[in-house]
Amino acid sequence: MDTADIPGLIREAYEAQKFSYAPYSKFYVGAALLTAQGRIYRGCNIENAAYSPTNCAERTAIFKAVSEGERDFEAIAIVGSRDEYLPPCGMCRQVMQEFCDRKTFQIILAKAPEDYRAYRLEEMLPEAFGL
Ligand code: THU
Repeated sequence: MDTADIPGLIREAYEAQKFSYAPYSKFYVGAALLTAQGRIYRGCNIENAAYSPTNCAERTAIFKAVSEGERDFEAIAIVGSRDEYLPPCGMCRQVMQEFCDRKTFQIILAKAPEDYRAYRLEEMLPEAFGL
């Protein structure tokens, strides 16, 4: 993706964060997933009283997109509710590995629309298990 488009994708992640359901951890996460056709799917974390059914924001966005027929992704922006860059958990990285090109897919960790770090999936999940 064009670097000029990154702040817009980060803003979408902040919009997604508004719907975060995190009464247990009180850690509110938003993600915005960009498809190759330029569509954006938003996701938030959704917690559960039984804890393990909790779904991360990144997987919410990816599962929403895949369930709508999307399989071609360029980037994901992720924001958390602390003033830190929030790297995706291992499970979310493995889900990215299933659907995204390791060499080109960008994972954008943001503290603000103009304050972010971008990584390729291959950097975040080396020696990945896959098909
Ligand atoms: N969480 C995410 O949504 N994405 C991450 O990359 C890390 C963690 C959520 C899961 C849980 O609702 C809360 O953050 C605390 O772990």
